[in-house]
Amino acid sequence: MDFISILWAIIFCGFIFAVTLLILISIIIYATTKPYPIIERFKEEEYFNDPEKKTKVKFPSIEDEYTVNLSVIIPAYNEQERLPPMLDEALDFLENRRTERPSYKYEIIIVSDGSKDKTVEVAERYVEKYGCNKVRCLELIKNRGKGGAVRLGVQSSRGAVILFADADGASKFEDITKLEIALKELIHCDPVSQSELIVNANALAIGSRAHLEEESLAKRSIFRNVLMYGFHFLVWLFTVRRIRDTQCGFKMFTRNAARVCFQSLHINRWAFDVEILYIAQKLNIPVSEIPVRWVEIEGSKVTPVLSWIQMGCDLGLIWLKYTIGAWKIKSDKVE
Ligand SMILES: *[C@@H]1O[C@H](CO)[C@@H](O)[C@H](O)[C@H]1NC(C)=O
Repeated sequence: MDFISILWAIIFCGFIFAVTLLILISIIIYATTKPYPIIERFKEEEYFNDPEKKTKVKFPSIEDEYTVNLSVIIPAYNEQERLPPMLDEALDFLENRRTERPSYKYEIIIVSDGSKDKTVEVAERYVEKYGCNKVRCLELIKNRGKGGAVRLGVQSSRGAVILFADADGASKFEDITKLEIALKELIHCDPVSQSELIVNANALAIGSRAHLEEESLAKRSIFRNVLMYGFHFLVWLFTVRRIRDTQCGFKMFTRNAARVCFQSLHINRWAFDVEILYIAQKLNIPVSEIPVRWVEIEGSKVTPVLSWIQMGCDLGLIWLKYTIGAWKIKSDKVE
């Protein structure tokens, strides 16, 4: 045999080996994964504090009818420092809106994701000040990851429109109006004043930092930029194509869109944003990406390298598991 044919034989064997391995992995994954997420919620996590009546009250369910115009879900893990300025800014904005429109009702749900610091105490101070109709604290007794925390918050919320916003205050809260305008363009009714029409609509408006990329490119190390481009490429390759920034912690859903997206969410970690957008894409729920202002706040919790690698793996797994049917999307009541 000559050299060329030996080379071909090696390539051929390698190819057969890789395909066999992929099939084997797929079979194992298929056999060992449940198609729908199992959502864990402990008994203690079904209640919030009512400081006025000094009792515990059961959270409502996302399956119930909406009773407020807006829910803001704030996932918080060890955020005793950054939470107060963020809450002040949000409450300031929302109270102002209430002055202008007295019939407007909102709620803020702070989800402490098994925090070890004073996050819950800080949150409860706001509950006391504003009352539990406006501010509630959902204390998770076990850490779930950001996706798991946001999901439990969403599933306990009352809003016709649901926004989730990071506790670090990196986005300007008043940019919520930009998301509302975008949502309005998608569904042709006003998220602020036409809540009763929102109920039948499905749409997402998500904040985006893509327009800030050029500026941050210059500031960051080459290594981080390579990681970032790698991540963007994997998102494009495996999951969603049309969205430039999937990770911005400022996303708005109509109530039904939040319900259907989060009931099928499998990933509890950082990559949950991508899975949410993947689910929305699969269900033909329109998504509008809107530039928002953004300031880096001290104390970021994403440990760069490790979490980038973990997210990369999660992206590959999202694609593989949905493609082989190991994961499924519940698609009831979406037209
Ligand atoms: C809030 O929701 C109620 C009930 O659907 C609705 O009538 C009202 O127009 C909404 N917006 C405001 C600003 O009150």
